[in-house]
Amino acid sequence: MGWHGKIERNVILLLVLSLLTVSIGGLVEIVPLFTIESTIEKVKGMRPYTPLELAGRNIYIREGCYTCHSQQIRPFRDEAERYGHYSLAAESMYDHPFQWGSKRTGPDLARVGGKYSNEWHVAHMVDPRQVVPESIMPPYAFMLEKPLRIDDVAAHLRANVVVGVPYSDEMIENALADLKAQADPEADHDDLLARYPKAVVGDLDGRPGELTEMDAMVAYLQILGRMVDFEGLTAEDLRQ
Ligand code: HEC
Repeated sequence: MGWHGKIERNVILLLVLSLLTVSIGGLVEIVPLFTIESTIEKVKGMRPYTPLELAGRNIYIREGCYTCHSQQIRPFRDEAERYGHYSLAAESMYDHPFQWGSKRTGPDLARVGGKYSNEWHVAHMVDPRQVVPESIMPPYAFMLEKPLRIDDVAAHLRANVVVGVPYSDEMIENALADLKAQADPEADHDDLLARYPKAVVGDLDGRPGELTEMDAMVAYLQILGRMVDFEGLTAEDLRQ
């Protein structure tokens, strides 16, 4: 054990050899990840956000909703019973940055889409205590008045392409038209829904003539957790 005693008495040698040992462990874990195409397994149903949903997501980030809400259902029975199927990695693959969050002052929102009507969301955002008397969520009534900024929508899609979201040229070309169509009950929604299945279309904020931040917020909240169809999903699909 002479050599061991030598290492333990020489701080520099101990440090160098420790680093060497740790880096071997690190390399064995990290290097294989570079040889596979993706560390996230694709799941049927996942698609990029519509331009309006993306605008809503940007508002969600701007307002710091993530400081009170997580978007990650953990694989525990109590969470699954309250919120639904645990979150899959693929469900946040188009989120840059992801909104998993680390604080739950309010409930998890990963599957809030489809849980309430559009009207409920608008009433709740305008005055949370009107629908949930014991709520401590702040009101966001201004979103109903504030016109949505739309001139930069195509740029937002292009920025997402840079970080790997597969928006096609067609999607970017039609970004502004798709954004307007989604919140317009009179518009033809076929092209939009062909590009972005399951998008919630029509009068979102109760003010059909005006494109407000509330339209974007509701469009975003209503798609959360709905892209993957867990009912008809087999283990094979999860591995697709
Ligand atoms: C100070 C903390 C806080 C902030 C910030 C906050 N919320 Fe909440 N939120 C809550 C609480 C608490 C509840 C539960 C009571 C209720 O429904 O109002 C809640 C509930 C909700 C619900 C209903 C969830 C469900 O399943 O019933 C939605 C949707 C929601 N918040 C969206 C948002 C959005 C969007 C933002 C940002 C614009 C936001 N919240 C910001 C605290 C917060």
